[in-house]
Amino acid sequence: MKNDSGTAAQKRRAGESAAAEVTDGMVVGLGTGSTAAHAIEELGRAVDAGLDIRGVPTSFQSRQLAVEAGIPLVSLDEVEDTGVDLAIDGADQFDAAGHLMKGGGAAHAREKIVDASADRFLVVADPSKESDPLDYPVPLEVLPDARTLAAERVRDLGGDPDLRAAERKDGPVVTDNGNLVLDCDFGAVEHPEALAADLADIPGCVAHGLFVGMADEIHVGTATGVEVR
Ligand code: 5RP
Repeated sequence: MKNDSGTAAQKRRAGESAAAEVTDGMVVGLGTGSTAAHAIEELGRAVDAGLDIRGVPTSFQSRQLAVEAGIPLVSLDEVEDTGVDLAIDGADQFDAAGHLMKGGGAAHAREKIVDASADRFLVVADPSKESDPLDYPVPLEVLPDARTLAAERVRDLGGDPDLRAAERKDGPVVTDNGNLVLDCDFGAVEHPEALAADLADIPGCVAHGLFVGMADEIHVGTATGVEVR
């Protein structure tokens, strides 16, 4: 069966492993991407079997998946008192220190809010996502009016910004928040904390894809099982 070999199976194992950490009564952050989707589907099966949880989606995509899976949804405002117990989310890269690069799906602004709100943040990934140092171009969500200035500031910081283009139509990718994404190639990111601070300072920057020191555990699906780092 196609889905039972290679990367697809590794992603599934990672997602299911993280979903197994969810218990009755929890408010769960639902991440975006193909690996987090496995966790959402597994949680949907658990809800069918009687698990009582509420999900906080991180994107239009994860909201749709959760609705299809039958997971009751809440907004962050509605859980102001209790907060998010656990968030499960994918990553484009992770390093040995647990720092992440996210935003390949342009959902990193909401992902960062939900993941940072959680008492426990579990990352789900396949082994190809490990990179020391991180070298995936940093996704920078910017207000449309800030596009030119932000690109200039990224160049000043030594990066090469590229406006993300939509795959299926002419024009740029527009995020769930109505903003644009600059993919900023810095080569190897030797100092993620410093770069994260510099990018956050850019006027009109809504969120960058560096998630520094946020992950509590990384569930890495392998050919035979799951390694939890
Ligand atoms: C979306 C993300 C995703 O979590 C990231 O792109 C990983 O996706 P996948 O699990 O499909 O490889 O950050 O903004």
